[in-house]
Amino acid sequence: MPEKSMILVTGGAGYIGSHAALALQQAGYDLLVLDNLSNGHQELVEQELQVKVVVGDISDRPFLDHLFSTYPIAAVMHFAAYIAVGESVTDPGKYYRNNVAGTLTLLEAMVAASVKQLVFSSTCALYGTPKFVPITEDHPQEPMSPYATSKQMVERMLADFDAAYGVKSVRFRYFNAAGADPDGRLGEDHAPETHLIPLVLLAALGKLESIAIFGTDYPTPDGTCVRDYIHVADLAQAHVLGLQYLLNGGNSDVFNLGNGSGFSVREVIEAARRVTQREIQVVERHRRPGDPPTLVGSSDKARSVLEWQPQYADLDTILTHAWQWHQKRHGSDRP
Ligand SMILES: NC(=O)c1ccc[n+]([C@@H]2O[C@H](COP(=O)([O-])OP(=O)(O)OC[C@H]3O[C@@H](n4cnc5c(N)ncnc54)[C@H](O)[C@@H]3O)[C@@H](O)[C@H]2O)c1
Repeated sequence: MPEKSMILVTGGAGYIGSHAALALQQAGYDLLVLDNLSNGHQELVEQELQVKVVVGDISDRPFLDHLFSTYPIAAVMHFAAYIAVGESVTDPGKYYRNNVAGTLTLLEAMVAASVKQLVFSSTCALYGTPKFVPITEDHPQEPMSPYATSKQMVERMLADFDAAYGVKSVRFRYFNAAGADPDGRLGEDHAPETHLIPLVLLAALGKLESIAIFGTDYPTPDGTCVRDYIHVADLAQAHVLGLQYLLNGGNSDVFNLGNGSGFSVREVIEAARRVTQREIQVVERHRRPGDPPTLVGSSDKARSVLEWQPQYADLDTILTHAWQWHQKRHGSDRP
């Protein structure tokens, strides 16, 4: 087999994974995208990136062994997971099986193939209700959903696989990923959609009647939840830097990825009205269990260690790119 040079991107047909695949491609890496298409878009990656998607599951050990013995895989970027926080509360087994047991299978296959570098998508949700903001990586962890716990468990497994087998990992704890490829090739298209910005834009497009605000009595300036939105292209760039850090011999480490500034649900809706110039109907509902009032992260560590510099920190820019994508994907006319 030739010298190992290829990057395996699990979940690479999904929202963040496809943007990371694009960033890897632009940085000159060879890619292999693996996705079971439970929530991914094969045609998008194959058309826009001209990269073949290998359809398969991270829980399928013979399939993984075949991939690792067929392709010169040097390292893995691991995005494949189920991501709906609410569903994880009602169907926890689905999340532990896919996110935890699936990742265990992937790790064991990596060890067997002597592939020892992995970049992992973790989440700020594992911090729970913040005791201080901005949240730093050493903030106490109190995950409030099986989804968040599944990510915490994988982080624990990664530490153990490093100690036992020398698998080095960069764990990225994302805040709220948002936006779309600035050139309009890729964007967010989940089914069902649960994230605020695409929902607001679908309401602007008339694909949804209204957007629900869950909780207007939080201890925040306007009573609605405050979140830290990070442009998906900036996330993708951080993944390339995290990979390079590992390939250069870096030790396992964990980094927050956010912008360090928070916007309330009402501020996001107002910004979306500004960017889209459309009416957006709002309905106010009760709080949802498990939603902390404020989640804002410090990414100082990623900036200093990885020299990561977000390019699209401005909320209107994030919304503008997402709006271009949604119009292209769903059509711009109201029904
Ligand atoms: N979107 C966010 O704001 C956010 C925040 C924090 C963490 N994350 C994490 O980032 C990662 C990517 O999130 P996303 O928003 O792009 O989600 P996504 O659903 O768009 O992408 C995940 C992809 O993984 C695939 N997949 C799921 N299970 C698989 C399996 N067993 N085998 C192979 N493929 C499988 C899906 O088909 C999908 O294409 C996830 O691990 C998620 O937990 C996302």
